[in-house]
Amino acid sequence: NKMDKKTLTIDYTEYDSVDELEPKYKELMQAATEALKGSYAPYSNFNVGAAVRLRNGIVVKGANQENAAFPSGLCAERTAAFAASATYPGEAMQAMAIVGGYDFSTDDLPCTPCGACRQVMAEYQTLAGEPMAIIMVGKREIWKFDRVDDILPFIFDSLK
Ligand code: THU
Repeated sequence: NKMDKKTLTIDYTEYDSVDELEPKYKELMQAATEALKGSYAPYSNFNVGAAVRLRNGIVVKGANQENAAFPSGLCAERTAAFAASATYPGEAMQAMAIVGGYDFSTDDLPCTPCGACRQVMAEYQTLAGEPMAIIMVGKREIWKFDRVDDILPFIFDSLK
């Protein structure tokens, strides 16, 4: 019997300007910024935009939608992912860009997705069988994670 202490390491890339991003990610980031305009968040005043690039090249946008009955709202990331899957079922989501902040502003550090959104991304990634890159956009830093596993370790996955 032995007890093993383990350490998990997560790799990600930090950029300090959008111009350092590969063109396809820069484009996706611009789509997320465009999507932000559709945010409806009168209760939290926290606005988020997301854009998903599919294998077929199509970009699907989403923005957070709130409701007077609070739990009825939805985050930008899931709005985008669900719209993408509903419109183009089974088409791999190769990348998602996220931008957000209070009153349509962008913080210095990126807006990071909530746990429920990560879980939803994980399932679509498993379904597609190819990695979904996540790009999180801040004013001073942009972070790129190559796969959902890197933001959600030990993913729950009943499809495996
Ligand atoms: N929200 C998102 O849309 N995405 C995130 O990554 C963080 C949180 C939304 C949910 C809610 O409408 C508001 O931001 C405040 O939590």
